[in-house]
Amino acid sequence: MVKFVQIPWAIPNFQKEDKNALLRVIKSNWLSMGNEVKKFEERLSSYLRIKYSIAVNNGTAALDIALKCIGIKNGDEVIIPALTYIATGNAVLYNQGTPVFVDIDDTLNIDTSLIEEKITDKTKAIMNIDLGGNASNYNKLLEIAKRYDIPLVVDGAQSFGSEYYNVKCCSHGLINTTSFHAAKILTTVEGGMIFTNDKKMNMLARTIRNQGDVAKFDHQFLGNNYRMIDLLAAMGNSQMNRFEGTLRKRRKKVDYYRDYLKNVEYPRQLENTINSNFFFLILTKNRDRLNHHLNENGIDTRITYPLPINEQPLFRKYGKEVFPMAKKISERVISLPLHQSLTRTEQDYIIKKINKFKE
Ligand SMILES: Cc1ncc(COP(=O)(O)O)c(C=O)c1O
Repeated sequence: MVKFVQIPWAIPNFQKEDKNALLRVIKSNWLSMGNEVKKFEERLSSYLRIKYSIAVNNGTAALDIALKCIGIKNGDEVIIPALTYIATGNAVLYNQGTPVFVDIDDTLNIDTSLIEEKITDKTKAIMNIDLGGNASNYNKLLEIAKRYDIPLVVDGAQSFGSEYYNVKCCSHGLINTTSFHAAKILTTVEGGMIFTNDKKMNMLARTIRNQGDVAKFDHQFLGNNYRMIDLLAAMGNSQMNRFEGTLRKRRKKVDYYRDYLKNVEYPRQLENTINSNFFFLILTKNRDRLNHHLNENGIDTRITYPLPINEQPLFRKYGKEVFPMAKKISERVISLPLHQSLTRTEQDYIIKKINKFKE
């Protein structure tokens, strides 16, 4: 009998202890934002060695708040990489800002040598991401941000757990964010967080998260309901107990892929960085055919991302510039299955399907 293979791209990292944490909160009768959220924020502040963490209900909300804290408004330009998830660009639009795109390099992150030519009097932020967890050149980014006196905002949705020269990603910017969506390495199903060392931004972010409430029923400006709930924060706390182990196990699976895969290329990783390995990316010339072949054989994949963000219909009106590297990568990249339940046998199967694929 032929056994049908189905290997998911990701499986939520949900274990028995997370279930117990949820049950404990359910029994406590306090489900909305409370002590579990506070504890989760404190744990992440200590993990990232940053002063303030503000938990919210998803990574997109975190980005919206981050740009509001920076004061992005109508016509302000925000520099973003040409290859990123749509939410990075959307956050600029929520604040009536204008996205300005910069091509990527062979790390698949923003090409720092191309940023300065995009800076104008209207540039009010550089917003960076670390694609798939591959840390960007923060020395250079911070140097540019300082020289031009422009805040660095880090959309660290994919790089919680990564490091650049012993400094955790999600902490290099004036304000930083992450996401705990179900596919993320640390997940609260939906969730996000804002990180900063700036006291005023901390206060502002907390206020915006909670209906612009400076004190109970005292609303001096427009906020929203971006609150995280205790029920989900409990899951985050439970997952933090094993987070380092989770990263280690992921790294082992990545090493195994890299030991045995043939005829594929990888994004360049900078020296002295640690990759959280949110994505395991391969680059191949015959991407569409190989991807189809993998999917036909029950291997789930993601194309991250099929278009440079500036080519998405929503963003086309912000210029017609073509970004050669972002374009090339969007035609070559495949993100392979990577999760805690992925077995050696499954990896061997995936490796065999790729190595034996005839162009
Ligand atoms: C780079 C980037 N920014 C923002 C987000 C948005 O996060 P969320 O899905 O939690 O809203 C994601 C989600 O994966 C992302 O990859």
